[in-house]
Amino acid sequence: MLPARRYSSVLDVGCGLGVFTRMVAPHCDSALGVELSSVAVEQAMRLSENVPNVAFAQGDILQIDSVLRDENAFDLILVADVLYYLALLSDEVLTTVTRSIVQRLPPGGLILLVNHYFFDLDSQSRTVRQIHNAMEASPSLQLVREQRHPFFLASLYEKRA
Ligand SMILES: C[S@@+](CC[C@H](N)C(=O)[O-])C[C@H]1O[C@@H](n2cnc3c(N)ncnc32)[C@H](O)[C@@H]1O
Repeated sequence: MLPARRYSSVLDVGCGLGVFTRMVAPHCDSALGVELSSVAVEQAMRLSENVPNVAFAQGDILQIDSVLRDENAFDLILVADVLYYLALLSDEVLTTVTRSIVQRLPPGGLILLVNHYFFDLDSQSRTVRQIHNAMEASPSLQLVREQRHPFFLASLYEKRA
């Protein structure tokens, strides 16, 4: 779904073992995975020993500014199967998370949001729809592409100029 271009700096939030972080590595100058679990961060680092342009940091998506430096900006942010793990998942929380990651994007920067999904047929899928709707509601973002398949929903948003 991603435009085939070279990205300069990629952020993968809730990166787990860094599967997507490593996948995007050949297409960017640098990629940073941020992950709540320090155990996962250690494993991601170990699995990425031979990938020089990726780094990992332990941190919470709800406090992403405490992990990133002030000057950190990303032209692509990946958010894959993480937001539905938040204990308090309200529209207010989603709006706050969206705002905190959107401010790290320059105009034209992209967010790829991917989640487990099964066509609104189960409660988990309805939660996922809520997550994607909340991101789409951001006045700073424009939905540029969406794919629905069993069992995932993927939305690509671009930051407006
Ligand atoms: C299903 S895994 C997805 C991992 C990765 N994004 C992928 O698609 O391979 C969900 C990950 O989100 C992490 N996570 C959950 N809550 C988080 C939070 N508040 N901040 C950062 N990461 C979180 C979990 O520790 C877990 O590694």
